[in-house]
Amino acid sequence: MFLLLAWGLSQEVDPREEAKRQKELLLQTAGVLPSELIVEQGKELFYAKRGPKNASLEGCDFGLGPGVLKGASVRLPRYFMDTNKVEDLDSRIRTCMIQLQGFKPEEIKRSEVVAIAFYVAAQSDGMPVQVRLLYPSEKAFYELGERLFYARSGARDIGCATCHVTYLGKRAGVLPYADVINVAGKGAAMTHWPAYRYSNDQAWTMEDRIRACYGNLGHPAPEFYSPAVIALQLFMAYHANGAKAELPGFLR
Ligand code: HEC
Repeated sequence: MFLLLAWGLSQEVDPREEAKRQKELLLQTAGVLPSELIVEQGKELFYAKRGPKNASLEGCDFGLGPGVLKGASVRLPRYFMDTNKVEDLDSRIRTCMIQLQGFKPEEIKRSEVVAIAFYVAAQSDGMPVQVRLLYPSEKAFYELGERLFYARSGARDIGCATCHVTYLGKRAGVLPYADVINVAGKGAAMTHWPAYRYSNDQAWTMEDRIRACYGNLGHPAPEFYSPAVIALQLFMAYHANGAKAELPGFLR
């Protein structure tokens, strides 16, 4: 009985409070947060002259002009004229590694893209999410994202919305299903990704998160940098508009 009670209580821990506690604990013991180390690593990669063109990423345009990082990541995904594509943070970093540094797509290391994403996103900490649907392709991506979010498939006939809308707040193991599109009006997920996950010491961007959730669906995950992954982000980011970013995120 006591054990059951203790288990029940431990299940009721607020995930945000628990993350805060873990953050303080890590700061006390290590003196620095793993998420900050990843930001530093990303910063080094950003300013280092690398690749066949021996160039840094300082000239990368994340939508506010070459080299402007402050406020850039909270406005992504968005349409870019130079590639004629809607891009998210990950794909834009990849684009710049190809265009500015001369890397071939197959040479680009995922871990480097993630670290650079941490650095770029950290420059928008505390700023509100502000994505727009100005260009026709942005509207089309939003609609694709919406369709993918509500689509149901597989033997269990489930989709993103099954867990993140229908079962919102219900327990999924230790964590309650998160409100990723701000149904309850208390904030949405796009505010705190990329994030460091202390439970398994992983650095993830929203692309990693979405791909892992396709696993929850029993679906093969769409490729990194693919339209499906970017469209779902634009859909979720639009619903996070106005919410304050905490970047990089620090989560269970
Ligand atoms: C079977 C249930 C399930 C399905 C289906 C599912 N997810 Fe998740 N999702 C989870 C769980 C569990 C987590 C981790 C706990 C949490 O943060 O909700 C999670 C986390 C997330 C997060 C991070 C939440 C946050 O606040 O940081 C996002 C974003 C997300 N899912 C998006 C999606 C998308 C997009 C799809 C559809 C492709 C999807 N999920 C399908 C269970 C599901």
